[in-house]
Parts: sequence; structure tokens; C-alpha cells
Amino acid sequence: MKHQQTVVGLDIGTHKIACVVAEVSPDGKVDVIGIGTHPSRGLRKGVVVNIDSTVESIGLAVQEAELMSGVEVKRVYTGIAGSHIHGYNSHGVVATKDGEVSQEDVTRVIEAAKAMNISADQKVLHILPQDYIIDGQDGIKSPVGMSGVRLEAKVHVVTGAVSSAQNIIKCCHRCDLEVADVVLEQLASSEAVLQPEEKEIGVILVDIGGGTTDIAVFINGSIRHTSVIPIGGDHLTNDLVVGLRTSPREADQLKRKHGACMPSMVAPDEMIEIPSVGGREPRAMPRQVMIQILEPRMEELFEMVKAHLEQSGFHNQVSAGVVLTGGSSLLKGAVELAEEIFDAPVRLGRPSGVGGLVDVVATPVYSTGVGLVLYGCRYRQTNTRSTTKKHHSVSGPSLWQRMRAWFGDTS
Ligand SMILES: Nc1ncnc2c1ncn2[C@@H]1O[C@H](COP(=O)(O)OP(=O)(O)OP(=O)(O)O)[C@@H](O)[C@H]1O
Ligand SMILES: [Mg+2]
Repeated sequence: MKHQQTVVGLDIGTHKIACVVAEVSPDGKVDVIGIGTHPSRGLRKGVVVNIDSTVESIGLAVQEAELMSGVEVKRVYTGIAGSHIHGYNSHGVVATKDGEVSQEDVTRVIEAAKAMNISADQKVLHILPQDYIIDGQDGIKSPVGMSGVRLEAKVHVVTGAVSSAQNIIKCCHRCDLEVADVVLEQLASSEAVLQPEEKEIGVILVDIGGGTTDIAVFINGSIRHTSVIPIGGDHLTNDLVVGLRTSPREADQLKRKHGACMPSMVAPDEMIEIPSVGGREPRAMPRQVMIQILEPRMEELFEMVKAHLEQSGFHNQVSAGVVLTGGSSLLKGAVELAEEIFDAPVRLGRPSGVGGLVDVVATPVYSTGVGLVLYGCRYRQTNTRSTTKKHHSVSGPSLWQRMRAWFGDTS
């Protein structure tokens, strides 16, 4: 047996559960060796609302990935989303102990930055360092070893509802899976689809899934803003169910096959066949009717994203524009419509940075699943090489401490 290690990403989405099994070689090469997906039944708008159904879907997705990879899945990195998630920028200051910044000073300053009023039902999920300032000199990424007496840290703090995190962990435990970490979904997706240069010059990631649209803004290499909008592609499907009087399953298939959100992309006279419910005859309908239903909904969604970004104040600082990912980014015309609304360059983000079953995972549907694997690899590295890891790693309390906090100290 070679010294390969396995890292597994478990994306518990509103629309599907995806389990991505990857093998990591000692030199850091990541090869996807198995994938399992199963429709998700127990979530609403990114949040677990039915444990039994979620457990069943997770079990089936994991089983499929195990069969394909020949690996028994024991430990997973899993994601979290939903409108209970909040992102804040915060700031901390400490005096260094010996006139030189030590790792301990960095830990203290991050703790100081974390000290903010969080409501009792929320817990810190991530503390993501942005910049350090030493004696007024800003823009420092690796402060350890530098001289100075006053150390300041700018961080992005992500909090989420304790109960939502607990339910995700509970579902995994019920499937005999240990949870290595619970990661903000757009943070995971960003690992898989954004290029380091994009994060440097400023980029907006918009992951449009089935139940939520997750936003993350990166500037100067660090995360500056995160938010979640509880609307996704399943809302488009529901609109089609009502508008075309067909079943949710058929509506979803029609959307994938014939859907579009730019009227100019479809010939005015093109007809499509709509399967009806209750054994009635299928009907023919102009394809433009579908576009008339989908276009306003996508427009509304992008306008909401734009409003979030304008509120964050970062919308003018993103030279790399917008990267769309998640299953709904595949809707025909989504990139073009987003370009119009954001008045910025927009591209489709597919997972990259992995080998193995590349053809299977190179779709925006697997951005979070692959991202969780990549996040897991990075996290393991920060654990084993903590003295050499410089910055932008996720710091703060260990997952074990956080999980104990989520469950109370007795568990
Ligand atoms: N080719 C396509 N065209 C249009 N929509 C698509 C296409 N493929 C998938 N979708 C839509 O993408 C959505 C699912 O996306 P995804 O798999 O990213 O969701 P999820 O991760 O399960 O959900 P969430 O992240 O919101 O919890 C569904 O609404 C589906 O109809
Ligand atoms: Mg998703």
C-alpha cells in the first residue's frame, strides 16, 4: 500500500447530496476516485428539516461513492449554508509580548477580533484572517517573526445557527460518519473554482444551488464578505410547475433541457412538448413561454445578489468580476444575463485543481463537493505543518473545541 490518504467531501445540498472521495499523495496531488450522488429529500433552503430523510439520502450517496472508489468512508468534510449564516468583518488589537510577533500573539489577536456580540443561538464557524497591521503598517500577511509592539488583525468572522450545525453533524453521525469539519459552502466552492490571481485582484463568487444562492467576495487574496440568499434553482422549477402545469420532476427536466433566461437565445417559433400530469396528453408550447417564466426569476435573483454586494460596499473593488457556479449556473443564458445586470465580466466556475475522475466532477454541480475535499487537504496541511503555514488558513478554535461548544461541554 502506498502512502495515499483519503479525503472525503460530503456536500449536503438542498437538491442533491454529493459525496466526493479523493486520494491525496504525499506530494499533495489530489485525485478524485469516487463520486456518489443522491437526490436530497430532507432539506429546505440549505437547512436540514427532516433528519430521517437526510440520513437516508446521505447513506445512499456515500454507499455509491464507496462502491466506485473501493474505499470505506469514515470521516467527511461537510458544508453548511442557509439564511442563518452571517458574515462580519472585525478587528482586534493586542500588545506583543517581546517586541516581536509570536504565533501566540497572532492567536491572541485573532481571539480579540472574535470578541463581538453574537446572539446566543449563533456560533462562530470560521475566523478568516484578512490582514495584519504592525505598529500602523498595514497589508501584512505573515506577521510571525516581525518586530513591533502593537499587533492588529482584520478578520472575517462567519457565524451560523447552532441547531443547524448540530443537525448536520447528527445526520452524519447517524450514518456512522465522523465529521472532520463543517465548512461554509461558498468557502468550499471558492477553493475549487477560483484562481489565486482572481482572489488577489478581487472577485465575487455566486454559487446558485437548488435552495440557496451563496455569495463570497475576495479582495487582496482574502475573503471580505459572505452572505446567503434563500433562493435557488428549485424556485425556478416551482415556477415552471405552476406556469406549465406539470410535475416537479418533469419541470426540472424541461428546465435543464429547454430552459433559458435570455429570450434572444431562443427562436420565437420554437415549440417544445410539455408532459402533463394525471395521464393527460402531452401538449406543445412555444419555448419562449418557458423563457418568460425563467427570465424574471433569474433577473430578480441577480438583482438581489447585486443589492447584497452594494450593501457590502465591495462591489466596485472586484476587477476579476463574477464567477457563477452551482447547478443553476448551467441554465442557458445565466452568464450573459449576469453580465448585463452586474455590468462586469462573468464566467462559469467549474471545479479544477484535482486529477482522477476529472471529466465527471468538472461541472458546477460538484464545486462544493470538490471544494470540501480541497479545503480538507489544506486544513490537514495546516495541522501537520503549522509552523510553516503562513496565512489565510482558517484559524481560531479547533473543530473539536467548536463542536464541543455546539453540543455543550457534556457531549
Ligand atoms: N443544466 C441545467 N440547467 C438549469 N438548471 C440546472 C441544470 N443542472 C442543474 N440545474 C439546477 O441546479 C439546481 C441544483 O444545483 P446544486 O446541485 O448546485 O444544488 P444543491 O447544492 O443541492 O443546493 P443548495 O446548494 O442550494 O443547498 C437545481 O435547481 C437544478 O434544477
Ligand atoms: Mg450547493
